[in-house]
Amino acid sequence: MQVALVGLGVMGKNLALNLIEKGMTLVAYDKNPDAGAELISCAQSLGVEERLHIVSDLGDMVRRLEPPRSVLLLVPAGELVDSVCNELIEAGVSKGDIIVDCGNSNYKDGIARKLKYQNKFEFATMGISGGAEGARHGPAMMASGSEGGWERLVPWFEKVAASYNGESCFARVGQSASGHFVKMVHNGIEYALMQLIAEVYHLLRIGTGRSPKEVAEIFESWSEGELNSYLLSISRHILSLEDGNQTPLVDLIDNKVGAKGTGLWTAQNALELGIAVPSLVAAVQARHLTNTISTLAAKEMTYQAKETKKIDIDLDELKSAFYFASLLCYRQGLALIKGASRSHQWKVDLAKTLQTWRAGCIIRADYLDDIAKGVDFIDTLEAEAHALRSITGQAIQTGLAFPVLASTQTYIATLSTPSNGHLVQAQRDYFGEHGIKTHSGETSHLTDLVDLPEKVR
Ligand code: 6PG
Repeated sequence: MQVALVGLGVMGKNLALNLIEKGMTLVAYDKNPDAGAELISCAQSLGVEERLHIVSDLGDMVRRLEPPRSVLLLVPAGELVDSVCNELIEAGVSKGDIIVDCGNSNYKDGIARKLKYQNKFEFATMGISGGAEGARHGPAMMASGSEGGWERLVPWFEKVAASYNGESCFARVGQSASGHFVKMVHNGIEYALMQLIAEVYHLLRIGTGRSPKEVAEIFESWSEGELNSYLLSISRHILSLEDGNQTPLVDLIDNKVGAKGTGLWTAQNALELGIAVPSLVAAVQARHLTNTISTLAAKEMTYQAKETKKIDIDLDELKSAFYFASLLCYRQGLALIKGASRSHQWKVDLAKTLQTWRAGCIIRADYLDDIAKGVDFIDTLEAEAHALRSITGQAIQTGLAFPVLASTQTYIATLSTPSNGHLVQAQRDYFGEHGIKTHSGETSHLTDLVDLPEKVR
C-alpha cells in the first residue's frame, strides 16, 4: 500500500515515521527540501528508509502513485489546503482518488471543500490530536465521512492510532466534516480543562499560600488515583520545575496566553447553534483577558496578591470539586457535538467519539469511563456537586478570578435549580410584545393574563 503525504512539519514528519514504521510505503513532499532531508535521516536511523520516497514536486508525487490514489494533507489550515488540492488536480489527481485533510481545519471549510471538489476527487477530513509525540507513537484520530477510499486507509489508521485496552483510537465518528467538528470541540474542552487546572493551582498558590512544588505534590497524589489525566500530569511536572536559582519555572513565564483559534471556533459555533457551553466560552475569554493587562501589572497582581484573602481549603473537597467540574466540561462539549450533529444530520456516534479520546489525545483521562456512563450518571453526583458549590464560593471569597470554576458552577446550578427565565420573558413581552408561553404551552401576551392599563415609561 502506497500513500502520499504532503506537509512535513512537526505533525507531518512524525505521522510519516509512524506510518512507515507500521509497514506503509510513503511518498512524501514538503516545499522545504530540508524537511524531506530530515525525514530521510530519521527513517534511516530507524532502518525503514526503503519505504520512503521524497519527491521534489506534487507532479512527481502523483506520477509515482498507482490509482486509486490516497493523499494525506498535513499542511496548515486555511488557503494552503485549497492551493495544494488545486495543484494536485493539475498534477492528475482524479475521481476515485481520496485526499484527506488531517490539519486543524475549520469544519465549515471541510463542508465547502466537499462540494467544491465532488466531481474532481473524494475530499475527506480527519482531526488528529496528541501533538508531536502522539503523531509519532499513536495519536487520536477523529475521521468522518463515507467517501470511497476510506476503506483503503482505515486499516492503516487503526494501526497507527493510539490504542486503549486493545481498541484503536481511530474512528469515523460521523458524516460529512464532523471529524473536524469533533476535533474542534476536543480543543474547546482542552482549553476549559487547562484553565480549570490553572485555576485550582491559582487557588492553592495564592489563596492558600502554597508553593508551586507543593501544588505539584497535590496534583501528583490526585494523578495516582481516578483523577489521572494527561493535562494534570503535565501540569504537575511543570509546577515541579525550577531554574538554577530555585525560581519556579512558572514564575519565569509571561502571563499572556496565546491561541490558534480552535477554542474560539468552539465558542462561536456553540453560540450560533444556541447550545450553552459556558465553561468552554469562559476559558476562551480567560485567555483573552490575560492579554488585556500588562506583564508587569499581571506579575505584581499575581505574586504580591495585595488585595486577596488567604483561605483554608479542604483538599478532599477541592479534589471532588475538580473531578466534578472536569466531568461537566466534557458534558458541555458532548452536548455541543450532539446538537451540531442533529442540526447538520451528521449522525455522530458519541460512543465512538469518546473511544477516540481514550488515549493519544490531549484530553485523555482515566475518568472518561465515568463520562461514558452518560449525563444521568454525572448529574447524580450529589456530594461532588456540593463540593463544587462550596469550593467555588470559597474561591470567589479570595478576590481572585476563577472564570471556568464559576461558569461550571453556574452551568450545573442552572440545570438543577429553578429557573428565572420567566421574568426575562415577561420583560421582553412588556416592552416589545415578543410573546410569552404559559405553563399550558399556549402563546399569549402579558395583557392576556393581567390587566395592564398603563405601563412604566
Ligand atoms: C492537539 C492539540 C493541538 C494544539 C492546538 C491548540 O489535540 O494535539 O489540541 O491541536 O494544541 O493547536 O492550540 P492553541 O492553544 O494554540 O489554540
